[in-house]
Amino acid sequence: MQGWTEGYVGGIGYIHAFYRELSPALLSFALTLRGWRSPMDLAGSFTCAEIGCGQGVSSAVLAGCHPDARFEAVDFNPGHIAGAQRLAAEAGLGNAAFLEESFAEYAEGGAKNLDIVTLHGVWSWVSAENRAILVDLLKRRLKPGGLAFVSYNALPGTLAYMPLRRVLVEHCADRTGPLPERIEEAVAFASRLTALNAGWFAQADALPARLDSLKRKSPNYIAHEYLNRDWTAFYHANVARELAAAKLDFAGPAVPMEQMDELSLPPDALPLLAEARDPAYRETLRDLLTNRAFRRDLFVKGAGRLTAAERRDRLRATRFALLVPPDDLPEVILAPVGRVPLPQDLHGPLAEALAAGTPTLAELSALPALARYGEEAVLRALMILTSLALAAPALPEAGQVARALQSDRFNAAILERNRRDDTLDTLASPVLGSGVAVSRLEALFLLARRRGADPAATAWEALSADGLVLSRDGARLDGEEANLAELRARFDRFTRLRLPTLRRLGVA
Ligand SMILES: C[S@@+](CC[C@H](N)C(=O)[O-])C[C@H]1O[C@@H](n2cnc3c(N)ncnc32)[C@H](O)[C@@H]1O
Repeated sequence: MQGWTEGYVGGIGYIHAFYRELSPALLSFALTLRGWRSPMDLAGSFTCAEIGCGQGVSSAVLAGCHPDARFEAVDFNPGHIAGAQRLAAEAGLGNAAFLEESFAEYAEGGAKNLDIVTLHGVWSWVSAENRAILVDLLKRRLKPGGLAFVSYNALPGTLAYMPLRRVLVEHCADRTGPLPERIEEAVAFASRLTALNAGWFAQADALPARLDSLKRKSPNYIAHEYLNRDWTAFYHANVARELAAAKLDFAGPAVPMEQMDELSLPPDALPLLAEARDPAYRETLRDLLTNRAFRRDLFVKGAGRLTAAERRDRLRATRFALLVPPDDLPEVILAPVGRVPLPQDLHGPLAEALAAGTPTLAELSALPALARYGEEAVLRALMILTSLALAAPALPEAGQVARALQSDRFNAAILERNRRDDTLDTLASPVLGSGVAVSRLEALFLLARRRGADPAATAWEALSADGLVLSRDGARLDGEEANLAELRARFDRFTRLRLPTLRRLGVA
């Protein structure tokens, strides 16, 4: 293994993935909900750094929809950065820099000019020395008033998976040959062990579901999640205390729904939690009561508090967009407290209003069908929908035309890529300031629409060049004619069911 990896898994690239929780509009919404002043003017300019950016997809997409903001994405893996720089060149991104640097090099290399620093999928997967460097980086580079996003494997929920990780690490080390093959074999071996239902395996209720999900993940994901030398799960209190050295205070969870006690905790828990005086201790007790295995936390450096009136005004002025067709909203959701029904007399008219435009909370709350529930109930419904990726806070209307010019160029590059392969599946939305996932087929249909070409023929040209054919009702379709007929049927469905949402989000 190369010396530069510092124990981090080498020789295998990370997956190409976009993480919506890093979107400025969502971060701002979560901060405002907790009464903190956000460091970014969403319609203006700000600077954002993603540390340990992997393939750089999140930063590239976000740069694609925020032409006035600057994005710096840092990773020491040259393969990751070379790929991200190629995409940035193809998409004409002038506001994103992809830097092949270690945490230490980046910490030392610039001014205290960052409004946001995001550390997604990094904290638990690097050594204590590197975490100290990250604290130093936040101390040196994050502006006063700035925001840090930190995700990590949390205790106690991760306890359940520690022995599984051990089996995967030992099994891969026990074999020789290409890493992806060793990973596949290790996952299969862990499944066979689980099937014995003996000892620890008999007690690990969540294990079969975790293994099923691992079987659907790529070796690239599994390598970066489980096979690093360093792999540490944390109590929230420990992370909060380590980050205090960078003058950071915990501001709240990044996922709005996790701020809603009634969905997370039994009613009798609140008086017990109130007995804990230290907020870090209180938050850790919450994790014990919800058995949380992963946290996405927001920390602020000297950020101001909003007055109640400022908070209300900011929330009322926030626009929201629906990410799915209105008929696809669930009637029941799964929360830490169990199954929670979504009242249809509120959610029905809310979904309809969101499908008709990008209304603000104030506009939604004033609608006759929603006014009787009051603004707080509408806001809480939106907190649930935005947490489940069914809706999202949108950017202010100001600047949307300029954003659309840049995102359109970015999206053209992504769609063009899909003619050749399926690694990039996220378009930049000038409405959300965030990514919108599309399947390869959807990307090819959108490409054909842009070119005024026949959608079925465009899709077939790309798929057949890769030796791919479609299936219908589980049966493989042979020959050009059968595939073209199926593609025409799928394009028809796409036009009716999916295109209205993509148009609303400004990506079609
Ligand atoms: C699990 S990946 C997460 C990637 C990305 N943030 C995401 O969530 O998609 C962690 C990344 O951190 C990078 N990394 C690990 N240690 C590093 C270091 N000391 N300096 C720079 N990058 C590092 C790895 O190369 C890897 O791409």
